[in-house]
Amino acid sequence: MACWSLIALLALSQTSSAHYTKFPEGFTFGVATAAYQIEGAWNVSGKSENVWDRLTHTRPDMIADGTNGDIACDSYNRYREDVEELAYLGVDFYRFSLSWARILPTGQVNYLNPDGIRYYNDLLEALEAKNIEPLVTLFHWDLPQSLQDLGGWANPKMIEYFRDYADVCFREFGDKIKSWITFNEPYEICEDAYGDEKKAPAVNSHGVGNYLCSDTLLKAHAEVYHLYNDTYRSKQNGKVMISINSIWYEPKDPENAEQVTLAEVANQFKFGWFAHPIFTEEGGYPSIMVENVARQSEAEGYPRPRLEQFDEYWIQRIKGTSDFLGINHYTTHLITGAGVDPVAKSPSWLKDIGALTTMEVGEESASEWLRVVPTGFANLLRWCKSSYNDPPIYITENGVSDRGTLQDYKRIQYFNDYLTEILNVIYEDGVNVLGYTAWTLMDNFEWRAGFSERFGLYYVDINDPALPRTPKLSAEYYRQLTNTRELPQDDRFKDPAKVHDEF
Ligand SMILES: *[C@@H]1O[C@H](CO)[C@@H](O)[C@H](O)[C@H]1NC(C)=O
Ligand SMILES: *[C@@H]1O[C@H](CO)[C@@H](O)[C@H](O)[C@H]1NC(C)=O
Repeated sequence: MACWSLIALLALSQTSSAHYTKFPEGFTFGVATAAYQIEGAWNVSGKSENVWDRLTHTRPDMIADGTNGDIACDSYNRYREDVEELAYLGVDFYRFSLSWARILPTGQVNYLNPDGIRYYNDLLEALEAKNIEPLVTLFHWDLPQSLQDLGGWANPKMIEYFRDYADVCFREFGDKIKSWITFNEPYEICEDAYGDEKKAPAVNSHGVGNYLCSDTLLKAHAEVYHLYNDTYRSKQNGKVMISINSIWYEPKDPENAEQVTLAEVANQFKFGWFAHPIFTEEGGYPSIMVENVARQSEAEGYPRPRLEQFDEYWIQRIKGTSDFLGINHYTTHLITGAGVDPVAKSPSWLKDIGALTTMEVGEESASEWLRVVPTGFANLLRWCKSSYNDPPIYITENGVSDRGTLQDYKRIQYFNDYLTEILNVIYEDGVNVLGYTAWTLMDNFEWRAGFSERFGLYYVDINDPALPRTPKLSAEYYRQLTNTRELPQDDRFKDPAKVHDEF
């Protein structure tokens, strides 16, 4: 394909200065999953309904292939197989999430579900037996429906409820867990689920609910960090972080000053929205964001800004509450100029940014939003180093989708090219990247895409009731990577159709 070779050439020309293949001593590798996407067992063993159960059951038309997570990969029953796969891959750690509705069916701590507690203890023991470290996410989008009925993350009461839930998790599982993630992808939670209807609970309170959510979420994150820091850390010796996702924005024309400025604005609105309050010395939301939303809100007739800056107490309370910067990264989009995107609702986060974007960059994947742009990853990482005072970084998700194939050369190429950029920024720029997490262990329920977009290292046949997991070629690639700590160069990982291209 002409397009592919052009991109390959571009990637080559931009990375040809360096030929790093070996990861530094102590660098760790893992893979990630999330409870709703793999567990299934949605209504057994005392688990209650969560917002994804509700959305998939009441609005199956909103899921690309009409599927849901009722069974998913059935990991609730097949976790031992999952652990065997993890051991085969040779990963140092496994990132998974806890299902709040499975542990606390009422959403509150008045009742602990023994089966839910037992399930995660069994999983943790199975991992321990294989010497695989758990990296555990407290919240990966599956809020108990009973709490959503009270407003979910738009309700400030959630600060207490999330702290209560985390307290139970630290107490019940904390002896076996050294690394915690509070929230996975706060942007997706607040913008996609409250400011839009792209994710459950699809509140679609654009320009308002998204900012109420971030206010609650950042406070809830800080309270859980302090709970751990003050009460559990001395006994359990673990770390707590947040995983922030990024679509990285770059100017389409790097010589165009307006595009350069607007790309920075967009990155502040996207990444800075959640990173600035936690990882900067100054704290609080990025000033450009506060100013833009205030100006827009006034023009739209609102009596006060739709996004309110934190008061001094909360600025201090939130600052510094993450031991690492967790980054989920997949893709880069381009900024083409000032303006309001024709799809932007009013009011909205997108309109508040005031920039036009395009996805016409890099090679396509099975996901419309996901283009392959490895150099954007390096630029994001350098930007994080300079914007956030050189934080220690874990890549907590990275990967690419296809429609499902065992000979997944494009996924291997993606891993190779994105991992090469990590090596470049570590060795050339001194960016402190400590670990890497591939998304994902196996094909799973990819939210509104259902099973139509597949990101797994293992192929899952969802038409076979046994849900067999088969290693793709990328699983062999990843296994070799974890074994050698070096980017595999073998011919068998190269697409025979493009055998002349260098890795
Ligand atoms: C659980 O949900 C399934 C559909 O996924 C349904 O067939 C079954 O009857 C439900 N079981 C209970 C105990 O409600
Ligand atoms: C965590 O606890 C330590 C020891 O008590 C304290 O010095 C530090 O400031 C705390 N971290 C935050 C972000 O409050």
